[in-house]
Amino acid sequence: MTPQAICADLLDFTADPGLADRDSAAVRLRPAHWLLIGADGRIVDITPHAPGDDWHKHDHRGRLLMPGFIDSHVHCPQVDVIASWGTELLDWLTTYTFPAEAAHADPVLARAAAALFVDALLAHGSTSAVVMPTVHAVSADALLDAAQARGMRLIAGKVLMDRHAPDALRDDVEQAERDCERLIARHHGQGRLSYAVTPRFAATSTPAQLAMAGRLLARHPGLYMHTHVAENRDEVAWTAQLFPQSRSYLSIYEDFGLLGERSVLAHGIWLDDADRRLMVARGAQIAHCPSSNLFLGSGLFGWGQAQAEGMAVTVGSDVGGGTSLSMLRTLADGYKVQALAGQRITAWALLHAATAGAARHLRLDAEIGRLEPGLVADVCLWDWASGPVAARRDAMALQRLGGAPSATHVPDAAALHERVFAWLTLGDERNLVQTWVAGRCRYIRTA
Ligand code: GUN
Ligand code: ZN
Repeated sequence: MTPQAICADLLDFTADPGLADRDSAAVRLRPAHWLLIGADGRIVDITPHAPGDDWHKHDHRGRLLMPGFIDSHVHCPQVDVIASWGTELLDWLTTYTFPAEAAHADPVLARAAAALFVDALLAHGSTSAVVMPTVHAVSADALLDAAQARGMRLIAGKVLMDRHAPDALRDDVEQAERDCERLIARHHGQGRLSYAVTPRFAATSTPAQLAMAGRLLARHPGLYMHTHVAENRDEVAWTAQLFPQSRSYLSIYEDFGLLGERSVLAHGIWLDDADRRLMVARGAQIAHCPSSNLFLGSGLFGWGQAQAEGMAVTVGSDVGGGTSLSMLRTLADGYKVQALAGQRITAWALLHAATAGAARHLRLDAEIGRLEPGLVADVCLWDWASGPVAARRDAMALQRLGGAPSATHVPDAAALHERVFAWLTLGDERNLVQTWVAGRCRYIRTA
């Protein structure tokens, strides 16, 4: 592969910028810099100087280049039910989601759906994701194979559910364990894939199945654990009835040996103080899903309190509870959820959580999340504005910035924030120009 060089305004984070500091020193803007990508798909260098003739050059000066987004919680089959009207979580699952997921037992349908889904992730600016397929092993194979074919860093595993679901969506402990062992052997550590032991949520697994999940995690170091927790008040009450011996919803997972530093738990809106301490002690992360929480009316996640208590927080689109695969739209919803709670968080906090922050909490910071020599070149190229309103807004921000950033005009983070916040708030997949995965261009906007 010819080494590639892309010139744009490079934006990433060297550390956690905190939630409210517009002037954070962790923000790194390198205007009109060249990102040099070696034949192995890794970043070789970042320089203001154009490289020589042996580099294939892509000059996108004036555009923004960032690490690809990491969507830390999303459901592949739920593209089929995104934007379904009128229900809260438990009704939504039985009315729309379970019937749609049942169709993914069909290998032909599962493979087509997986291809559409991973291409859609790339076309929305997400180069990595933590994904739930369905209970069917074939749907996990299809998803992991589709990511592998595109060289993507993807974390996924067959969903475990052996009760409180329609027949077509229930496994049993023995078959599920055999399926998981086969899937782990086939996919975990292959290319950029990692396997996640994936009990859907406590309510759809028997204690025997959760115990089996714990055994899998103990048997295979490096596996992830992916589930939902404390999303909706009716769900929390129901779960407490099902597991009366556990102190809390989160404690169920702890009691079955499911919490560790590679655990990703979606939502966590209704955790208590002891739960948050447990999350911190285990190094587990909450995938905050603001779009889904608003759409299903689940509640408002307290990001400020979580951050103050040292809990790891990343961001998930949670399609189809969430209404867009765009992490820009999801992050913009994240801002609004915190605004409702009286806190204004910065564009830096939001963008960091979906790039370097997610990479760190997934223990992948030596591979993705920043623009740094040695890391894999998973990057997205963005227009600052799409459409006349966003263009006008961007022009206003640029005026106050004293013109476009350049090698001789590098604005500080506080000055830059207005422009980036407006981009994040108004932007979506229409702003996305190209997506590169491991140094290969995998998406090009055509319109
Ligand atoms: N809890 C259990 N399953 C699901 C799901 O598919 N989506 C959401 N948002 N919450 C869940
Ligand atoms: Zn979910």
